[in-house]
Amino acid sequence: MQRSSDVLVIGAGVIGCAIAYELGRRGVSVVVIDDRKPGAGATQASAGMLAPYNEVEAEGPHLELTVRALDRFDRFVARVVEDSGVAVRYCRTGTLTLAFTGESQMHLERVGALARARGVQAELLEAADVAREEPAAASTARAGLVIPAHGYVAAHQLIEALVAAASRHGVSFVTGVRVQAIRQRGEIVTASAGTEILTAAHAIHAAGSWTGQLVVDGAVPAPVHPVRGQLLHLKAVGPNVRRVTWGDRCYLVPWDDGSLLVGATVEHAGFDEATTVGGMSDLLGGVASTLRSDWRATLVGARAGLRPGTPDDLPIIGPSAVAPRVWYATGHYRNGVLLAPITASFLADAMLGQRVDPLLESMRPGRFGRL
Ligand code: GLY
Repeated sequence: MQRSSDVLVIGAGVIGCAIAYELGRRGVSVVVIDDRKPGAGATQASAGMLAPYNEVEAEGPHLELTVRALDRFDRFVARVVEDSGVAVRYCRTGTLTLAFTGESQMHLERVGALARARGVQAELLEAADVAREEPAAASTARAGLVIPAHGYVAAHQLIEALVAAASRHGVSFVTGVRVQAIRQRGEIVTASAGTEILTAAHAIHAAGSWTGQLVVDGAVPAPVHPVRGQLLHLKAVGPNVRRVTWGDRCYLVPWDDGSLLVGATVEHAGFDEATTVGGMSDLLGGVASTLRSDWRATLVGARAGLRPGTPDDLPIIGPSAVAPRVWYATGHYRNGVLLAPITASFLADAMLGQRVDPLLESMRPGRFGRL
């Protein structure tokens, strides 16, 4: 079958879906293609944390990008909910980061100073205040840091809403087929996927960990590697923890229905998306050292996803050097959900010739050669 559109988006993770939605609402005709259903890759294993100061711990373009990404999240979620009619659990509960060693206490102090230097509230707590702030915290915590601006979004609901909102703006989704080849000839981009031939004026390569396996004709493979993250889903029996809470060995994301997501392992296991007894055991051990050992919960399940890592931990966003109508939007590593809205709007602005944000310079594909 032959299909054509203004833009072809390869990859229906949170990045691909956010881009498709953004372009669709600007009147662009878009086809999204993926071999799985939307959000079935890294996104389904994401705890949806929105915590730039915990994720990026030094000044630079990465922190700037994540901070600006968080700033636009309220508006983004409100618009997607309105456009889709799908409810999305989204809370700015703040984060509580706990320190259990002198070294992690010094680290907290550095993170607090980094946030305050940007005018963001960040309150250091002594051990006695930690217990007041979070009664479930282990009594061995010697200090804490609260950053009230942080939060989380339920990634599976965000995907559902993005797909519904994009569809309302005319975006088509083709699933169950994998793109095997992509090339630009003149002003046309062509992708082949099984019996499908898709042509477009532009394509977006948003295949996450699999980006390097789909090499743009004439380019070198994108240096994106899979970094497995396993996640546990617990259910509190009694009061849940109050905020997103980070310990030395795991982070905890509490939902208002009593769910507690516990993440995440960081493993180099190739393309293996399985959960393992070792990974689950590490995470459970992490909860037991972060919270009081008599904190009551049951185990709901576990899942794993592959974060798309890059050599410098920064995403790859921008046009291919060899096929400038193919744009990369990949390599978001630990922050795909947080960075989805800003990636979508930067990319739509640049592709539609409206504005190239100066931050994109640090993310340009060409930093890795003839991509
Ligand atoms: N952003 C959290 C993680 O990747 O585990």
